[in-house]
Amino acid sequence: MGPACGEAAAARAERVLVLDVGGRAASLIARRVRQAQVYSQVVPASTPAAELLALQPKGLILAGEAGLEPDSDTVRLDPELLSSGLPLLAIGAGLLAVLRELGGGLEAAGGLDGPQPVRILHGSDLLHGLEPDEPWTVPVMPAGQRIVPPPGLEVIATAGDRPVAFRHRERPLFGLAVHPERLAEPPGESLLRNFLFRVCGLQGRWQMRAYLEEQVAALRARIGGERVILGLSGGVDSTVTAALLHRAVGDQLTCIFVDHGLLREGEVEAVREAFRFLGDRLVVVDAAQRFLARLAGVTDPEEKRRRIGNEFIRVFEEEARKLGPVRFLAQGTIYPDVIESGGPGGKDGPVIKSHHNVGGLPERLAMELVEPLRELFKDEVRELGRELGLPPALIDRHPFPGPGLAVRIVGPVEPQALAIVRRADAIVREELERAGLLQDVWQAFAVLTPIRTVGMRDGQRTYGSLVAVRVVHSVDAMTATWVPLPHEVLARISSRITDEIPEVNRVVYDITSKPPGTIEWE
Ligand code: XMP
Repeated sequence: MGPACGEAAAARAERVLVLDVGGRAASLIARRVRQAQVYSQVVPASTPAAELLALQPKGLILAGEAGLEPDSDTVRLDPELLSSGLPLLAIGAGLLAVLRELGGGLEAAGGLDGPQPVRILHGSDLLHGLEPDEPWTVPVMPAGQRIVPPPGLEVIATAGDRPVAFRHRERPLFGLAVHPERLAEPPGESLLRNFLFRVCGLQGRWQMRAYLEEQVAALRARIGGERVILGLSGGVDSTVTAALLHRAVGDQLTCIFVDHGLLREGEVEAVREAFRFLGDRLVVVDAAQRFLARLAGVTDPEEKRRRIGNEFIRVFEEEARKLGPVRFLAQGTIYPDVIESGGPGGKDGPVIKSHHNVGGLPERLAMELVEPLRELFKDEVRELGRELGLPPALIDRHPFPGPGLAVRIVGPVEPQALAIVRRADAIVREELERAGLLQDVWQAFAVLTPIRTVGMRDGQRTYGSLVAVRVVHSVDAMTATWVPLPHEVLARISSRITDEIPEVNRVVYDITSKPPGTIEWE
């Protein structure tokens, strides 16, 4: 093992497991833990203790949205965890699960209006540095109920008349009826950092460089001398996956780039350029006509997604078969994809949109799936990309949906509609770039609507198309807010779109956040 591997092993030695009791709490906390440079992993709370302990964690965080039904099976945790001696922080519904094991409960309590000031009753490692004379307030949960701690648990802080923080009298076990991941810093981050650094005694040595080395070693061990193929989309995730795999197994990697004809302006050329180093291991397939044929007359968004997904699989499969037997199929799945498709943390959530990926392919091609980014959030993927030496132009790109411009045309996907939305999209990005705003926003794009409105050009009546412009801020695409762009930028975008695209005579700005909207229109 070289020094880098030693470093990776040291970072890995500080693993904290976040046991997911439901809702988004676990993933948000896992991310905060990694920001504190401690490697964290989200696992279902129902995982048997023996399996969890085999991962040799240095601490456990049991987290779930308060208000979830504490009797559901997802909350049932292995009692062995409580007696394992490992430091444990139970948050929200996770605390309810612990109470159930230890014999505590809930009693009805009068309603408290709004957030309440927290009063610290006993000093403790968890509450270190949170001074009683700098009061912070918290929403009191669960609503209308008061936690009745079992004898083993001592109340260390209250909010109003409700206990909100607990410490076990004998074990390194703490409970919070408030959500540190949703609190401002301080106290939110202090609570988590106190748990990691004071209760668990960690040092915070996890870094992307160590993660990179560890992933490279793991990929080499798993792939050995076998071949891998990867579908390259031009997006950040598949780009970073390709670079990571190339670092790990070099020429054993072949990338297939399916040009479905639904890409942004200049994208095919950019991908060819960026992956020149792959030489003939980059296969570019021009399948635009096939996709257009499959999409003819289709207006339903889910049907579009389904057809594009299926056609993608078909094209990819044909190309993959030409390469002969390949053992592994790599995919740039990232953590939010796992959650939104109903993975850990989102098990019971409804599918909002069926994300386009290569689902089903591994079985059809009898290949094993490799998803090296599965645990990473988008910002971490970008950081990994930087560690891999990828150019900023590639890793700072905005996310782009797999079904491409097809989901930015409300109505049938036809060549003319594609040309309009592609040009409008390029104008939006060019103008944000010119204003120095492109990298400050999460996504910026145009949508072609089927609405036609009356207008005038050169003194003549027109009956043209309506384009919507959408620019949003987001941290992880799970929620988003619309960006109040400066009026002069909006004005330039609007006049350029109507000047340069004769079919368009009206431009509107989308001022909807997510929720209730989604980022894409379809
Ligand atoms: P929504 O529209 O659901 O999008 O708010 C959330 C984020 O995901 C992107 N998106 C996709 N990405 N395949 C992808 O790889 C897809 O099918 C897909 N649909 C939406 C979207 O651009 C946003 O960043």
